[in-house]
Amino acid sequence: MTEIAASQYAIELIYLIASALFILSLKWMSSPSTARHGILAGEIGMVLAIGGTLLHHGIVDYKWIAVGLVLGSGIGVPLGMVQMTAVPQRTALSHAFGALCVTLVGTAEFYLGTQSGSKFGMSVLSMEVILGGLTFTGSLMAAGKLQEILPQRPITYKGQNFVNFILFGCAVGSAVYLVLHPEAKFLFPIIVGISVIFGVLLIIPIGGADMPTVISLLNSYAGLSAAAMGFVLDNKLLIIAGALDGSSGFILSVIMSKAMNRSFTNVLFGAFGQVQPSAAAGAEAKPVKSATPEEAAAILSAANKVVIVPGYGMAVAQAQHKVRELYDALTKKGVDVRFAIHPVAGRMPGHMNVLLAEADIPYDRLIEMDEINGDFPQTDVALVIGANDVTNPAARTDQSSPIFGMPILDVDKAHTVMVIKRSMNPGFAGIDNPLYYLDNTLMLFGDAKQFVGAIVRELTGGH
Ligand code: TAP
Repeated sequence: MTEIAASQYAIELIYLIASALFILSLKWMSSPSTARHGILAGEIGMVLAIGGTLLHHGIVDYKWIAVGLVLGSGIGVPLGMVQMTAVPQRTALSHAFGALCVTLVGTAEFYLGTQSGSKFGMSVLSMEVILGGLTFTGSLMAAGKLQEILPQRPITYKGQNFVNFILFGCAVGSAVYLVLHPEAKFLFPIIVGISVIFGVLLIIPIGGADMPTVISLLNSYAGLSAAAMGFVLDNKLLIIAGALDGSSGFILSVIMSKAMNRSFTNVLFGAFGQVQPSAAAGAEAKPVKSATPEEAAAILSAANKVVIVPGYGMAVAQAQHKVRELYDALTKKGVDVRFAIHPVAGRMPGHMNVLLAEADIPYDRLIEMDEINGDFPQTDVALVIGANDVTNPAARTDQSSPIFGMPILDVDKAHTVMVIKRSMNPGFAGIDNPLYYLDNTLMLFGDAKQFVGAIVRELTGGH
């Protein structure tokens, strides 16, 4: 065996092991009990993938690769240290970098002419740069909206979907022409340019509330573009990892859309999240009952069964450790405390599970929506901490509500509902919540961490 053949054999073997680890990683990450193994498997797989690629006999000099590695790690490490609530936009940034890389590699391959003789090669190369280009700018837009650098509300205009459709059609049409007429090289920058512009236009009409779903869809596009790059570079690992990324991102978007009872087209083209002026204006006018931490503590102490409903506000306030203290204090008093988990509470899948696990709340106390909903009529107190849309009864009753049909946690059926939030402002869907005006609801106005802390102090006598 020649030296080149031996190194090729070693690379293929390493790629095979890395691919198996990626598959196991996804499998293990689907359950909380095996998730840590899943992360580790993914990390080892990635180290092997990078290591294997560095063995490639075509590499003549490691100098610039080392510079890139140091630079990339220098940027990546601090980027990874963000708060949990900022993970969606951080993920979007990673997609943007990946997609930019795919687009640049595709562009280099085009001008090197490696695929010019093959219709298949040119087809996948075109797909690579179209998906890469639109994912690059689309992900930057999504990250900007979530970070509130860009306006969160949908930006819409008449005929928007038609313009977008025509633009995308032009990119695909030009790509088809280029495949059939490889001499029309001038079309290539046009394809890349349209894709980059299309990415921006695709995202501006989508509201901030839908960004997590869109990000997982962009994740899927980034995966598919990487798989296309795998065909261009004849790299099997890229094809496998890209396909895994593409399909898992797509499945996740479908799961999220289902949990919100929204169709894919509604998420992408529905401009969801426009301000509902009537709802916002009405919110101030109606009377609500509020209570102090002392009153809330007294009600909780007198209860037998309490269900805590965490939401986005708990994440923002980083109140999970105080919530753990509340759980301990109530459990000590003999109160049965459980947590109701809505599949889209917070801003990313599993958001509440991760936060509560971080505070070491026993996993068997976390009950999924379908399982706990039947128990609310026998619940003494439903304590909602920074959740809003996922408890909105309008989703059950008001056909004109934008969230009508979305499955919610039936907290309104509990004997008493207490809601911790800072104001009467709406949640991410931008709509009023009739829960707050019910006879059995008490509003606990304040920051989640501070308010829960105050209740704990009352319950424990300041200890
Ligand atoms: P939201 O409906 O967004 O409500 C969060 C509430 O938290 C707000 O009403 C806010 O009221 C309150 N809040 C904010 N900061 C707070 C703080 N420091 N202390 C106390 N309260 C605070 O949250 P949710 O009920 O978790 O619902 C999630 C929403 O995101 C749904 O609309 C869902 O469809 C959407 N979404 C989720 C996902 C995933 S995968 N989780 C994906 C896409 C979309 P104040 O401002 O008055 O305090």
